[in-house]
Amino acid sequence: MKRKLRMGMVGGGKDAFIGAVHRIAAFMDGKIELVCGAFSIDPQISKESGEELFVDPSRVYESYGQMIEKESQLPEGERMDFLTIVTPNFLHFAPAKMALENGFDVVIEKPMTVSLDEAKELKEIVEKTGRTLCLTHTYSGYPMIKQAKAMIKAGHFGKIRKIVVEYPQGWLSRLSEREGNAGAAWRADPKKSGLSLVMGDIGTHAAHLAEYVSGLRITELCADLTTFVEGRQLDDDGSVLLRFEQGAKGVLMASQISAGEENAVRIRIYGEEGGLEWANEDPNNLIIKMLDQPRQIYRTGNAYAAPFTLSSFATHNTRVPAGHPEGLLESFANIYRNFAATVSAKKEGRVPTPEQLDFPSVDDGVRGMAFVQNVVQSNESNEKWTKFVL
Ligand code: NAI
Repeated sequence: MKRKLRMGMVGGGKDAFIGAVHRIAAFMDGKIELVCGAFSIDPQISKESGEELFVDPSRVYESYGQMIEKESQLPEGERMDFLTIVTPNFLHFAPAKMALENGFDVVIEKPMTVSLDEAKELKEIVEKTGRTLCLTHTYSGYPMIKQAKAMIKAGHFGKIRKIVVEYPQGWLSRLSEREGNAGAAWRADPKKSGLSLVMGDIGTHAAHLAEYVSGLRITELCADLTTFVEGRQLDDDGSVLLRFEQGAKGVLMASQISAGEENAVRIRIYGEEGGLEWANEDPNNLIIKMLDQPRQIYRTGNAYAAPFTLSSFATHNTRVPAGHPEGLLESFANIYRNFAATVSAKKEGRVPTPEQLDFPSVDDGVRGMAFVQNVVQSNESNEKWTKFVL
């Protein structure tokens, strides 16, 4: 591409949390520029946010509907190329549908929608329009997650037997939704959040990571959800036993009342010959544990000699030499970079490389929403195992 891709945003104003992180990630490689937005539910905040971000005031809109309508009327050389959706969960589907149907690609936050039905409908729209949809499962962009996936795929550990994935947080240990925390308030409201708070908000990240790294899909589950904090309308803690394809078994823990925890995502996967461990709080290390061998640590950015060479997916998603820490922002930026490269390639009639195509898609979004629905059903059921149905 001889120019930057033009990005619009719905949500992500001064009153928001994750929108600013999206902008850092999107801008990191210099391939994307912000040209328009409906940045807030409050038009005044949207206007002020646009000013702070130096967006042309004529392209700061009062609503996403107005934005998509006006942008589609602009000449091709000016209008946005894609829309980033960083609103609360219940406001993902409508702007995504409208953007796709008006010729725009989409970056959308997880959980993709509030229900499985919406997710399936969105998949149909993506297929019908032929547009690109990228779902921001942040943790899948880390180089050492790519390395873990590549090593499992290459059979390094033998047949996979056990997958243990955890996402404990502590920030909802109190009734924060009644104490003026706007992010907690919509998350704890079933109409705005979806069927489950903990599983929609962070369980989907954990389930995606387990399937992405292992390359195995969940086939059955047995879930236990709890609302620990009195007065809360949705669950805040969950444990799920998992059965995967090819006989692998697993455990998923997602919790927002794990007092004192920050974002302690961790995954361990064990095969017949050995296992691996990766943690978000130490993301440049991938610990390898093989039977009858000392432990090894693969580190981001090294030019190891064969047979320890890092995979092309790990190096493609690495930015700085070994020893300089890379973290969440770079992982997030990898998702944007791969999405942008794919969109640019499609615009120019080129075929994206496998490394460029490696970002979460609408299919992952459908599986995420199916995961939430199946977990909730399992929690309410007396049957031990619930089939993972899409
Ligand atoms: P937030 O509550 O901090 O911000 C939401 C933003 O959307 C605000 O700017 C609000 O004014 C705006 N908004 C609401 N309705 C709107 C409308 N009709 N038009 C335009 N703007 C509107 O929420 P937060 O924490 O930033 O989360 C947003 C989304 O991102 C959620 O789906 C959440 O699950 C997801 N998320 C994902 C993370 C990740 O790791 N990938 C981390 C944090 C959030």
